[in-house]
Amino acid sequence: MVIIMLGAPGAGKGTQAERICAGYSLPHISTGDIFRANIKGGTELGKEAKSYMDRGELVPDELTVRILKDRVSQDDCASGYVLDGFPRTIPQAEALEAMLKEQGVSADHAIDVEVPDENIVRRMGGRRSCQNCGAIYHVEYAKPAKEGICDKCGGTLVIRDDDKDETVRNRLKVYHEQTQPLIDFYKGRGILKEVDGTQDPDKVFEDIRAILG
Ligand code: AP5
Ligand code: MG
Ligand code: ZN
Repeated sequence: MVIIMLGAPGAGKGTQAERICAGYSLPHISTGDIFRANIKGGTELGKEAKSYMDRGELVPDELTVRILKDRVSQDDCASGYVLDGFPRTIPQAEALEAMLKEQGVSADHAIDVEVPDENIVRRMGGRRSCQNCGAIYHVEYAKPAKEGICDKCGGTLVIRDDDKDETVRNRLKVYHEQTQPLIDFYKGRGILKEVDGTQDPDKVFEDIRAILG
């Protein structure tokens, strides 16, 4: 099963993707996490990606598609995966479609997690992520058992570099210009499913489970 998570920055794509992956035994493929791991590791790819991410811009399609193809060609992706943060542009969606077609398959669901912009800026200020495993928390809505420490691995929780108010606003602008058109793209493919992302995370996941069956 190939599942695509759509939604604005901070809509809860990562939060829900974690749950889907745990519940359906699928690998979680987040291009943002791959870029952040490369930044942390000081790779050339990381250096290039960082220059875009710090401004809230998208990393160029050619590079992003190459990274994605490389990741999903690994063995753990053989029977499907959850894409979180990819595709983000029409050319990326077309590249994914062509790649899947070569394998004789197509994406099963594109789940749009809908949250209005007003809610987003507030959410992002409180997000904390595990430096070690990438698990997602919120100082108000998804607290860890011990402040500043990851429940899953004991790693340190940090604020993401691109969660500054100004960068969040640019990420939202870029989302509306370049990523929102994917909603119509997947509507046209007949696989778009919409969920209300302003609800409690458990309720959002319940709605997603009803879609996935
Ligand atoms: P990426 O890492 O994908 O970031 P994003 O799309 O901006 O989305 P976020 O990860 O910020 O939010 P999310 O929807 O996952 O929400 P989360 O679950 O964390 O990309 C970062 C950058 O990398 C991009 O800007 C770009 O530069 C580059 N990049 C990545 N992919 C690319 C691509 N394909 N092409 C080009 N460039 C690319 O939730 C947010 C917070 O809210 C958390 O604190 C969470 O606990 C809380 N929360 C979640 N759900 C709820 C809820 N229902 N109620 C209350 N709080 C909630
Ligand atoms: Mg995310
Ligand atoms: Zn962790």
